[in-house]
Amino acid sequence: MMHNNIDFNNKDILITGGAGFIGSNLAFYFQENFPNSRIVIFDCFRSTEVFSNGNLKSFGHYKNLISFQGKIICGNINNQTDLALLDDYKFDFIFHQAAISDTRIYDQEVIMKTNVNSFYDLLKIAKKNQAVMVYASSAATYGNQPSPQTEGKENPENPYGYSKYIMDQIADIYSKENPDLTIVGLRYFNVYGPREYYKANTSSMVIQLGHQILDGKAPRLFKGSDQIFRDFIYIDDVLQAIVKACDPQQNGIYNVGTGVSRSFQDIADILQNELKTDLGAEYFLNPHDGYQTHTQANIIASINNLGFDPKVSLEQGIKSYITEIKRLHGTEII
Ligand SMILES: NC(=O)c1ccc[n+]([C@@H]2O[C@H](COP(=O)([O-])OP(=O)(O)OC[C@H]3O[C@@H](n4cnc5c(N)ncnc54)[C@H](O)[C@@H]3O)[C@@H](O)[C@H]2O)c1
Repeated sequence: MMHNNIDFNNKDILITGGAGFIGSNLAFYFQENFPNSRIVIFDCFRSTEVFSNGNLKSFGHYKNLISFQGKIICGNINNQTDLALLDDYKFDFIFHQAAISDTRIYDQEVIMKTNVNSFYDLLKIAKKNQAVMVYASSAATYGNQPSPQTEGKENPENPYGYSKYIMDQIADIYSKENPDLTIVGLRYFNVYGPREYYKANTSSMVIQLGHQILDGKAPRLFKGSDQIFRDFIYIDDVLQAIVKACDPQQNGIYNVGTGVSRSFQDIADILQNELKTDLGAEYFLNPHDGYQTHTQANIIASINNLGFDPKVSLEQGIKSYITEIKRLHGTEII
């Protein structure tokens, strides 16, 4: 599906984090819709390295890229020698998705180095190539700010959210210093859809609850889940935002949500409806202090400046995704 008039055929496209959830979907979007685009994926892929909480350091997975026909570079955005491998190319578009994406990593030094320091280098590459830069920010920049979360009213509450907030400030300054460059940051809300499975316990609750139900178990939810709301957005709408961000009315940082909030209970109910089960739910105490109970993106700026037009309801997204949820059920993550 075309989202605007840009013809990506014969263009050189860099996707950092292209072995991950959003990056790999983007790579296939270009491959399928613009068969003559030249796509380079740069990703460190997953290793056995873990953080102190046992979570993997990176989630890139080769299984996200089976049948991808572009180039793949296994490299670390923190490593200058690896980044120098990109000198051989002249990119027209850079989609910077690589990051420590796990919001529950609290090692501030490693998050800031990975997410922030590397961004200076990627911006330099964009400038040298005169490439359009579209990068991943996050709704985590808002912390517990009340809904609707609106650009300009940030208050990050974890190192991950802070790192993205600092990236946004860097982008803003870089944009002002280089008015000829297109630089757009996208604050994704809760994204779900195919190719997220390898994020393991950081994948969306849609697939996690789906697999619990397919195990024949009642989906496990925090007590009061009918009152905990998120702006869940299907991957296809995120791809639309990324493509539209290549031709913005003006540079900036834009929310990428549906503008509608739904509860975790809704997810469980829609899944049970799709899977034709009636397992009820198992409720347990939410162990997290200061848990955000309501997110809903204000998407006015994204509509006005990107032409963003999210189309997929939670019901439609889960319906499209359910075959893939079933296919992955019980398969190994490693
Ligand atoms: N999925 C969401 O709901 C969501 C929400 C807000 C923001 N984001 C942001 O969107 C981007 C993509 O997220 P995702 O859900 O696809 O996560 P993901 O973890 O699946 O993808 C990130 C990719 O970056 C790679 N990576 C990590 N560290 C790297 C390094 N040092 N060098 C090279 N590659 C590295 C990983 O291997 C992985 O493939 C991230 O920047 C994330 O912070 C995602």
